[in-house]
Amino acid sequence: MTYPIRPIVETEWPAFSRVLEEAFSWTPGPAQAERFKAETEFDRTLAVLDGDEIVGVTTVLSLTMTVPGGQLPVGGVTSVSVLPSHRRRGVLSALMRRQLSDIRERGEPVAALYASETPIYGRYGYGRAATKTSFRIDKAGSAFVGDAPADPALRLRVARPAEVRAELEKVFATVVTRRPGRYERNSVSWDAVLADEEAVQNGSGNLRSILAEDDDGVRGYALFRVRSSSDDDGLPNGELRLNELEAADPAAYALLWRAVLDRDLVSRVSVYSRPSDDPLFALIADPRHLRPSSSDELWVRLVDVERALAARAYSAPVDVVIEVEDDVCPWNAGRLRLTADLTGATVKSVEDEPDVRLPVAVLGSAYMGEGLLLESLQAGLLREHSPGAVRALATAMSWSPKPWAGLTF
Ligand SMILES: CC(C)(COP(=O)(O)OP(=O)(O)OC[C@H]1O[C@@H](n2cnc3c(N)ncnc32)[C@H](O)[C@@H]1OP(=O)(O)O)[C@@H](O)C(=O)NCCC(=O)NCCS
Repeated sequence: MTYPIRPIVETEWPAFSRVLEEAFSWTPGPAQAERFKAETEFDRTLAVLDGDEIVGVTTVLSLTMTVPGGQLPVGGVTSVSVLPSHRRRGVLSALMRRQLSDIRERGEPVAALYASETPIYGRYGYGRAATKTSFRIDKAGSAFVGDAPADPALRLRVARPAEVRAELEKVFATVVTRRPGRYERNSVSWDAVLADEEAVQNGSGNLRSILAEDDDGVRGYALFRVRSSSDDDGLPNGELRLNELEAADPAAYALLWRAVLDRDLVSRVSVYSRPSDDPLFALIADPRHLRPSSSDELWVRLVDVERALAARAYSAPVDVVIEVEDDVCPWNAGRLRLTADLTGATVKSVEDEPDVRLPVAVLGSAYMGEGLLLESLQAGLLREHSPGAVRALATAMSWSPKPWAGLTF
């Protein structure tokens, strides 16, 4: 593949967007198209050209993402697309290599993305780093355990989402640092969260919000749509589709879930993405009714392994020499001594004998606190030179709460 690669300028936007629209068979409405353009950082775009034609694209969003113990600049990789006429000629591989080197030059030690299909990104050193849980709960099975928290100072307020945007943003600012994978939202992300044109309603009507507050202000909110319907026999059979539920404390959280689950004329609540350790699993008296299913969410790539490992906290003390395998970003290949605990880490390049050899994708999968270290060991995919080293590393890298981004980018 010898096509040239370069960033686009704004006048090339239609040709850039066309590749994405063709690759994803996506027909954006005018407002969606406008938001997509507004979120694009043109100097972080990359386009592959075949003559004058743009045939492959990708871009990076400059994110500030929560990691165990802090926040980090993270390259949010998105819009990865190759025209159907040019697929399987190595266009993606060329884009990935160039993009990873650009992200490194920017000083972002970590890249993250959502994968449209799971087999794509492992070859470029990305690892499956977070899980989302979807569920669909019938109202009839939604009772809480007897000792669910309640605060008599709390009350509910119904509001149009766009009119309470500042209050939603304030709640989100209190929760964003609590869970690895969550990332700061700019005004375009909020525009997307609150988008309400017909193209995004998906037959479920207006975006609605309900807030939990006390005399001091808002403590949580839920954003949702309701598809109203009733059975032939006249029984109400609406479905509430929850987009987002954020709360600063357990009592506000429980009250908001009750408001969602108890909504009149709704017989079930469906939720596309929640963290796999959502406290709702503890609140619901009979969690079988949640009928959860899970799938991969964020994929993480350590672009600068040394800096990335030094930038997070660790759940337990660990002192281990890791030999990192990385063909795509060869600057990472080598041996590192990681000495870490809850307060932070030091990472040094060493010549010592390794305790464990790890493909960079496995390290990336573990970075946010979930990951596949032990699974990979048990599957015979890792080389452990010092018995127990992988378990010690896995324990140290694990984190609670579990990683989850929540909002797709
Ligand atoms: C996925 C996509 C970007 C791949 O682009 P591409 O230029 O055809 O990929 P490449 O030719 O560089 O492929 C590199 C390798 O990845 C493999 N690969 C690429 N896409 C794959 C897929 N969807 N599933 C499995 N393997 C895939 C190729 O077979 C090739 O393997 P090899 O090195 O062993 O030969 C392209 O098919 C596309 O635009 N798909 C639709 C949009 C999409 O899903 N984008 C990803 C968004 S997260």
